Amino acid sequence: MIRKGIILAGGSGTRLYPVTQIISKQLLPIFDKPMIYYPLCTLMLAGIRDILIIATPHDLPQFRALLRDGAHLGVRISYAEQPKPEGLAQAFLIGEKWIDGEGCALILGDNLIHGSYLSIMLRKASARTEGATIFAYQVRDPERYGILAFDQAGKPADIVEKPVTPPSNWAVTGLYFYDRHVTDYARRIKPSLRNELEITDLNNIYLHKNAMRVERLGRGVAWLDAGTPQSLLQAATFVQTIQDRQGNLVGCPEEVAFHMSFIDADQLREQARAIEKTELGSILMKIADREICSYEPGNEPII
Ligand code: DAU
Repeated sequence: MIRKGIILAGGSGTRLYPVTQIISKQLLPIFDKPMIYYPLCTLMLAGIRDILIIATPHDLPQFRALLRDGAHLGVRISYAEQPKPEGLAQAFLIGEKWIDGEGCALILGDNLIHGSYLSIMLRKASARTEGATIFAYQVRDPERYGILAFDQAGKPADIVEKPVTPPSNWAVTGLYFYDRHVTDYARRIKPSLRNELEITDLNNIYLHKNAMRVERLGRGVAWLDAGTPQSLLQAATFVQTIQDRQGNLVGCPEEVAFHMSFIDADQLREQARAIEKTELGSILMKIADREICSYEPGNEPII
């Protein structure tokens, strides 16, 4: 079982300037919650309770002020600095001591994944102790992502970062699960032409060793990354639409903590009281009082 997970929330957020000149992108709101809540929920749904948040030295104190040591969510949150955005795979070098030779998941702090059967997939991925798992999603603009190439039998054969001529339209999402070899392999990577330690190079090591499982996310899943004003607004509208229509919460760590039994009803009430003037607070209170059961018994939680 993979018990540890990193949320990478660094970077300069230049595509969201001037807003992100003074605040981290991953603290901006997506509708009613800070962006980092969404990837945090994804890790928690995978059963991960040991979490490392990596951010710039400037932004890290704000993440710490928001999420503290995680005890109120029944998880343990640690923090580490990434002074410069030198690549996603650098997360495993920064976190090497904290990882301590175990397997580790990674999620990008601006990735929102929501959909049916996601929890089952996440738990399957964290249960694998050998190899790695990544998630692929069909996109309209494959030039922007790490893209999968398939062999004639339809088996994933390679991943190409931001291909000029995309070999497919299956993008690799910003959620990755790796076994205990991850820090060793991350050490082998050399900086790319854009001077970053590429996550795609790490993924290709696993793929070429035949140790990579690729889970395809289907139509029932939404994968959004909120890096531009347009995608930020789209993500907010998406969350608002689902929450208003279904009454279910999207990306609410207090709710996920309760459903994963990381906290009990009294602890959830305490969290709800802290935000009692908000709709979110009143929904959480109803969930604690079992007036709302957003997850049917026997049905897996989705975020
Ligand atoms: O979103 C999925 C894509 O993420 C994958 O398909 C690509 O294979 C992967 O390389 C990555 O694509 P980008 O190069 O577009 O990622 P970007 O540079 O936008 O960084 C993603 C997030 O991670 C962003 O919120 C900033 C943060 N970041 C980025 C770097 C390079 C860091 O925290 N530290 C970093 O060093």
